Amino acid sequence: MTDSPADPMAEPHTATGAPAERREGRQKVTGAARYAAEHPLPGRAHGWPLQAAVARGRVRRVDASGALEMPGVLTVLTHENAPRLNEPDDPMLAVLQDARVPHRGWQVALVVAETLEQARAGAAAVRVDYETEAHDVTLTEDHPAAYVPDEANGGQPGTRERGNPEADFDSAPVKVDAVYRVPPLHNHPMEPHASTARFDGDRLIVHTSSQGGTTVRQTLAALFGLPEERITVSAEHVGGGFGSKGTPRPDVVLAVMAARETGRPVTVALPRAQLATVVGHRAPTLQRLRLGAGRDGRLTSLIHEVTTHTSHVKEFVEQAAVPSRVMYASPHSRTLHRVTPLDVPSPSWMRAPGEAPGMYALESAMDELADALGMDPVELRIVNDTDHEPDSGDPFSSRHLVECLREGARRFDWAGRATRARAATGNVLVGSGVAAATYPVMVSPSTASAHALPDGTFVVRVNAADIGTGARTVLAQVAADALGVPLADVRTEVGNSDLPAAPLAGGSSGTASWGWAVHEACTELKDRLAAHAGPLPADGLDAHADTSGTADADSPYARHSFGAHFAEVAVDTVTGEVRVRRLLSVFAAGRILNARTARSQFIGGMTMGLGMALTESSTMDAAFGDFAERDLASYHVPVHADVPAIEAHWIEEDDPHLNPMGSKGIGEIGIVGTAAAIGNAVHHATGIRFRELPLTPDKVL
Ligand code: MOS
Repeated sequence: MTDSPADPMAEPHTATGAPAERREGRQKVTGAARYAAEHPLPGRAHGWPLQAAVARGRVRRVDASGALEMPGVLTVLTHENAPRLNEPDDPMLAVLQDARVPHRGWQVALVVAETLEQARAGAAAVRVDYETEAHDVTLTEDHPAAYVPDEANGGQPGTRERGNPEADFDSAPVKVDAVYRVPPLHNHPMEPHASTARFDGDRLIVHTSSQGGTTVRQTLAALFGLPEERITVSAEHVGGGFGSKGTPRPDVVLAVMAARETGRPVTVALPRAQLATVVGHRAPTLQRLRLGAGRDGRLTSLIHEVTTHTSHVKEFVEQAAVPSRVMYASPHSRTLHRVTPLDVPSPSWMRAPGEAPGMYALESAMDELADALGMDPVELRIVNDTDHEPDSGDPFSSRHLVECLREGARRFDWAGRATRARAATGNVLVGSGVAAATYPVMVSPSTASAHALPDGTFVVRVNAADIGTGARTVLAQVAADALGVPLADVRTEVGNSDLPAAPLAGGSSGTASWGWAVHEACTELKDRLAAHAGPLPADGLDAHADTSGTADADSPYARHSFGAHFAEVAVDTVTGEVRVRRLLSVFAAGRILNARTARSQFIGGMTMGLGMALTESSTMDAAFGDFAERDLASYHVPVHADVPAIEAHWIEEDDPHLNPMGSKGIGEIGIVGTAAAIGNAVHHATGIRFRELPLTPDKVL
């Protein structure tokens, strides 16, 4: 159970680094852990949202009379009778507020009934008339409505330019000019979005499946005009999110509306078939890469232009060109995003937004460049390494990409690649590929409290979200080290908005943000305990921390994690099937705080990258105006049989410019670049360059 080169069990004096088991693991595997839809409160009713059946237009009339006569149906909420909301910051949450249908699948009614089955049957009996308008859901390279946004997702500039990228490219002795396509992708967490809401006197209590309950509480307070102090949002256990639960989604708004209208507790659990249109997706990208290099392999021009879509509900621009501002030295560069608003559902975050699709394109193009140069692709990346972030000019706080490449090459036996290549048995061709990974280091201010109890144990409280990552476990480790006490003496409470406010589990920043506040609270508590004489008072001693003065994102350093993926594939030339035989990655992501949960995060991300490479894709039906895939039978995520020998390793990285734990984020980097490593291996095996994901048999044959 030790992937780290240094055996973490050999360091008994610190809790961090050790492969501590998940504290809620037993609850989860025994079914005792309660998720948001699993609160069988007395009198609880169920809501079933009804989705628009046209791709663009208006609701002309809703006839709920048939539904209201059906057994168990309590009410049917529509834009005509639903509670009015204050205008949301996120227009995706303005549900049942007007007659407009901005895309197929937009929610136009909510049927509330005694049971889930009655609500679903009621929804089938609601008649909706629409005024339909012509729709356009097709992303093209030269759409007349395309524009360059000021900002892409994450506040990144829409475009950046240095030097004379076109002129340099034109005169470069070695060039690659290629277009890569990544289809729309969907997050599909194991637990679909669900919320249970109830009013208790003037208090609103909500259980919701969210990556950040603090934001849910703020949002509900603003939408419904309630003081935050009267709202409790609990998200004790969350069955994954991958970005789709990064902000509140319509399920929680609908549940609160229905609870207010009926005076009953109401659960709105979105059926998986509705997720594709109402909780976001990774927008498709068309990416043109132009790389110009000298014969020594050094890049002189790097042009990365991304074309993507957004909805008419809101602007969300997948920032796929951003990693090209980070990865390789090049004196001439342009990175640009173009976005076209279409009548599609709103795109949103999906694990490593920007980096995941962007590094597929950049790292595939680097492989093509290595080919054009006749150079080893590992060496090409090493030749183009840099200690300053090319775009900002800032020095990297730490960057061990070269070490990851070399360590990965050694472990993978990259040197033996040529002898394994095309080692055909029957119709099977074998090849290997490499790609780099990167993800930014982010951090947000958080609060936390630490309490020393008279029995000698400790409680740490922070409204962190444990979305399956092991957050509550690793925060206990951080606390134990800051307090200088055994891990077993520390309890953590997370996942409730009555706890100290905290930012979301997103942008791979959760542990850094919450852990910083936990570290500060525990450090202060330790000082107070040292100064305290005699036994503790009955209610113990407390310390609170708020890192808004310390944990700011400004730094003179460019801070990123790096990594390298190595893939070996087998391609069946008769069936067109691509199987990944081995996937081995090495990461440099600061201090690894829990060897066990970190490994899970890394291989989870890598597995999602394997799905992106080989099977995952959503298809926008141009005539229908919606995604065709609505379930896990048609949207193919990897299953165990698809996941080969998979290994995640890391190198010890000592970076003093991060946070008191010395950690970078690890939740997203595993998916970044994996699809390129697999695609590059397919090229190595077959000699054919595929530039559109996923590499399904219909493309490969
Ligand atoms: Mo992640 S896509 O920031 O939850």
